[in-house]
Order: sequence, then C-alpha cells, then structure tokens
Amino acid sequence: VALVTPDLDASVQFWRDVVGLEEVERSGGQVFLRAWGDLEHHTLILEAGSEARVDHVAWRTKSRADVAAFAEILGHAGAQLTEVKAGEELGQGDAIRFSTPGAHCFELYYDVAKPPAPEGRRSALKSNSFRAWSHGISPRRIDHVNLCTSNPELVCDWLSATFGFRMTELIRLDDGSLAAGWMAVTNLMHDIAVMRDANGEPNRFHHIAYFLDNWHDVMRAADILQESGVPRDAGPGKHGISQAVFLYVTDPGSGHRLELFSGGYLIFDPDWEPIVWREDELAAGQSWWGAELAGVAAMDSTTPFGD
Ligand SMILES: [Fe+2]
Repeated sequence: VALVTPDLDASVQFWRDVVGLEEVERSGGQVFLRAWGDLEHHTLILEAGSEARVDHVAWRTKSRADVAAFAEILGHAGAQLTEVKAGEELGQGDAIRFSTPGAHCFELYYDVAKPPAPEGRRSALKSNSFRAWSHGISPRRIDHVNLCTSNPELVCDWLSATFGFRMTELIRLDDGSLAAGWMAVTNLMHDIAVMRDANGEPNRFHHIAYFLDNWHDVMRAADILQESGVPRDAGPGKHGISQAVFLYVTDPGSGHRLELFSGGYLIFDPDWEPIVWREDELAAGQSWWGAELAGVAAMDSTTPFGD
C-alpha cells in the first residue's frame, strides 16, 4: 500500500518507531517499510506530498504471466491501464495500474525483490526478514485493506468477476442493499473489505491492517500507543465479523488509519457460504465486545485515493 503524507517525518516516526515496521530503503522522497515477517521488499510506501492521499493498493499475482493476462482482461473491459516498468517502483518488477469501479487505484505485480535485512538486524529464523520484536508494536505482517465507496455491491461484484475474490461475510441492509462485503483470494477471512462510504464518496480509504500473533499483543499495542501519546480511534475490542481482536489508530502525520489485527479465522471450505449480517445485527458484527462502533463503516473513512 502506497500512502502519501504531508508530514513525512511524523509519519515515519509513527509507522517505524511506534508501530515498529522496519525501514528497508529510502529513495526520492519515498520511504519503503515492511514488518519483520514480510519478505517482500516493502508492504508500505510512505511518500511526501502536499495532501494525504492513497496512491495505490497493490496485489501480487500467482505468476509473472498473470500480470499481462490481467492487463488483457482489464483492457478488454475498458479499463485505463498504466504500465509501471520494472524498477520504477523500487524493488518491484513490471506492473500495471488501473482503477476499481470506485476509482481506487490498484496495482498488479509479480516480480518483487526479497532483500535480506542488514547484518545485525537479520532474523536468526530464515523464515523472517528482520529480527522480531525489536522495537515498537512490532506486527508480524501485512494483513488486509479496507476501502470505502458509494456502491459496495458494484466494487464487490467486480472483485469477484475479475479476480475471483470470494465473499466471506457481508452486511445486507433492510432495503436489500449491500452495505459492506469482506472478500478473500487467500485462506484469510478477508484480504479486502469494501464498505459503503458514510458521505457517499466513491474512493476513500478506511484502513490498512497489520497482523499480530496474539490477542495480548493488541493490549500491549494499546499500552505502547498510550506511552507514545498517540490516541486510539477505537478498541481493543473484538469484531463479530472476522472474529478478530482489533485496535484502530490514525497516523498523526497523515490521517491514514491503521488497524492492529489478531486472531480471526481461516477458511478451508471450497463451498463456503457468505455469512450474512442483517441491519439489526450490524452493531454486534462490527463490535462483538470491547468497543462502541456505530454505523456500517464503524468510523468514517479517512483519506481519499487520487493523484
Ligand atoms: Fe479491518
């Protein structure tokens, strides 16, 4: 996920020193970060810019050939494609960018560098990149993104038809409309959630989530945020939808929101049927316990996508 921030120093201080992501590299006003369990070159880019916005959300395909294959499918469907040549984004091979029906900029790539951490910072475990728990909240890995849009049904149908995302849980309002959908292409309960924007905006960002191994790590995260003087938006609490223990906090430098996410469940059933939450069950779906979350989006969206 590539986030633009009007205060790069404050944002780096938050994501690196408080959240505990690792700074991998800096180049041309961009800072590349990853968690200690992330092996790819970066899972987060912070870039200096005049206003906070989301530049793009990137997905890795299953093969190199899939990038070109998706370009053809998307091109036939009328999408405006932008080619991103190898190396244009540091650590990444050839990629394409295009918009969702909600005008969120997505990127597809396959080739990516997996640089080892510098000597002395490297994990003794070969399955990690950086040494675990070295500073800050120290999440293991990126988990999911949550986007807001005026018409979630349109975006969810497109995600399903174009990329094969399957719906795992959803909120259906009394008027029959889809208020929010949780979708996955992996065994995670969701790789993406799409929610109706409270202000009817087409292309907003709600949050990026990083994963912690244990519920207790989320409590510890709350303590670290208190010590750092960064107020929480909500939580710790437990979601009914996803069953995860969560905490939301906003980057003081940019206004982009982070969810610290632990637990949840995995899906192995090939015949999984989406779990439907009705309007009168919505509050329990958003917060099973521990936090008051009102409305479909459980807090407004934060920042816009855009150039
Ligand atoms: Fe989330």
